[in-house]
Parts: sequence; C-alpha cells; structure tokens
Amino acid sequence: MIKVDGLSKRYARTVAVDNISFEVQKGQIVGFLGPNGAGKTTTMRVLTCFMPATSGTASVAGFDVQEHPMEVKRRIGYLPETPPLYPDMEVREYLHFVGQLKGIPKADLARRVAEVSERCSVADVSSKLIAKLSKGYKQRVGLAQAIIHNPDVLILDEPTSGLDPKQRVETLELIKRVTTPSSCRRTC
Ligand SMILES: Nc1ncnc2c1ncn2[C@@H]1O[C@H](COP(=O)(O)OP(=O)(O)O)[C@@H](O)[C@H]1O
Ligand SMILES: [Mg+2]
Repeated sequence: MIKVDGLSKRYARTVAVDNISFEVQKGQIVGFLGPNGAGKTTTMRVLTCFMPATSGTASVAGFDVQEHPMEVKRRIGYLPETPPLYPDMEVREYLHFVGQLKGIPKADLARRVAEVSERCSVADVSSKLIAKLSKGYKQRVGLAQAIIHNPDVLILDEPTSGLDPKQRVETLELIKRVTTPSSCRRTC
C-alpha cells in the first residue's frame, strides 16, 4: 500500500529525512516513533503530496507521489497535526464542503456526511460551530474529514497530541473503530 525507497528531504541546509526505506502492506496499522525533529511529519507530507522529496521515491496504492499526485490524494486521508478546520463553519456544513472538494457525487454527499458523522461520533454536534467545540471533538471532526471519501490509506500526524487523558483514550478508540472494516466490526 505504501512503498518508500531511499527517500530524503532537505530544507536548505537541514536534512529532515535521510535516506529512509520502508513498506506498509494492506491492512497494517503502523506508527512512526522518534523524537521531535526526527522527520516524521516531513515524511508524511511527502507521502500525502504536500511537498516533494529531494531524492528517492514513494508510492501509495501503486501510484508514485511525484508523478501521480491526484491519484494518490484520491486514495489517501490525511489528518495533519493541526486539523484543517474552519472555525466559522458548522460541523455538517464543513463536512459537506470537504466532501465536495474531494469529489463525492452530489447525490451521495448528504448520506456520506451523515455516515461519517455517526462513525466519528460528531452527529450530536452537527449544527454547532466548529469554534465552539472542545479539542477532542475538533479532533473527531478532523478524523471525519480525513475518511469522508473512503480512502485506502489513512495518515494521522500526532492524532492525540494536546488532548487530556480521557480525550486521548476516546480518540484512540475512535481511530481503532474507523480503521476496522465494518464487515469485521461485528465479529472482531
Ligand atoms: N518547513 C520547514 N522549513 C525548514 N525546516 C523544517 C521545516 N519543517 C521541518 N523542518 C525541520 O526538519 C526537521 C524534521 O522536522 P519534522 O519533520 O517536523 O520532525 P518531527 O515531525 O519528527 O518532529 C527538523 O529539524 C525541523 O526543524
Ligand atoms: Mg511532527
């Protein structure tokens, strides 16, 4: 699903990522471990086509990030460390907006927003302004925008940072839930 080969990224004189290679298979859940400044976020930005690598290659679902960024973006859901939320929008309105940007057909949009709101436990705050939500709820909305187009690959950058212990446990539970296929959820 993800294949990285000899990837390096340099910002001016800073070498942020130095010749890394790894593979992630379909169905695997993996994490980057490393101290601040290790290059975790930079690697995720390359994989999500937010910035080009200096050298090496990376592909997602068989598509090279440099050569086919649109195909990669279609198959990837990304929750950056700071969720890309618009505080002046209501939750439902925001998810509609993101769904449109991600090319969900108009006829399916309302149903998809309702499904993802239910799945990420934000249905009860659908008509609230994002600015008024707690940090834990904002994170749930961030997760909802990342999965709204049913991506093959989900990339989350520090999804529990800045949350209190209770919110952290809830968010991890939620991530486990949204990454478990529905066919498996009943039996696993
Ligand atoms: N936009 C940027 N411009 C210049 N240097 C950057 C930029 N983003 C990150 N860096 C540097 O690249 C290195 C790796 O950072 P980052 O990928 O954010 O690491 P991590 O997510 O593991 O904390 C750090 O030394 C950081 O200061
Ligand atoms: Mg980081």
